[in-house]
Amino acid sequence: MNETLRTILTRRSVRAFKSDEIDQHSVEMILRAGMAAPSAYNAQPWHFIVINDRKALSEDIPQMHPYAQMAKQAPLAILVCSSTLPPKPQANAYWQQDSAACCENMLLAAHSLGIGGVWTGVYPNPLRLPLFKEYFKLPQDIEPIALLIFGIPDQNLPKTDRFHPEKIHHGTW
Ligand SMILES: Cc1cc2nc3c(=O)[nH]c(=O)nc-3n(C[C@H](O)[C@H](O)[C@H](O)COP(=O)(O)O)c2cc1C
Repeated sequence: MNETLRTILTRRSVRAFKSDEIDQHSVEMILRAGMAAPSAYNAQPWHFIVINDRKALSEDIPQMHPYAQMAKQAPLAILVCSSTLPPKPQANAYWQQDSAACCENMLLAAHSLGIGGVWTGVYPNPLRLPLFKEYFKLPQDIEPIALLIFGIPDQNLPKTDRFHPEKIHHGTW
């Protein structure tokens, strides 16, 4: 199996981290991978907030997001945000899909570097959206999409096989 497929098929959500910092080169590679994602009209609507402040990770984020408690022991989180303005006036908004592609690229890049990550959902949760928008001082037309939490894994997760042939339809449903 080639390296790309191995990375995709062995990625898991890592929720236990060692205390090691993530080096700046790896952070940049993760961000580069996110920005390499496909996007409708090549709009690249994403923006990123890199978070390594200990109080934000240990106290503030876990208070705002009940399912992001793993931030307490993580050295790094990246809030993936998106512009909601369509790239052309007549264009439909594909920014949620663009951002999802961006997030997955980032998780895969991290995994390939030996860094564990987990996607914690923000958009479109009506409780979390205003909290994250205010805390991270986002402009009006920027939405927080997902908080990706990263660190050196402190757990060993088995590879899963989610290939289900019955989900594949040929030609029509
Ligand atoms: C949109 C989205 C939101 C998610 N939100 C959370 C979350 O808030 N907290 C969490 O621990 N995991 C979250 N996850 C991770 C999923 O629980 C995880 O991907 C799923 O259980 C499959 O496990 P795996 O990633 O190890 O393959 C989220 C994943 C996605 C795609």
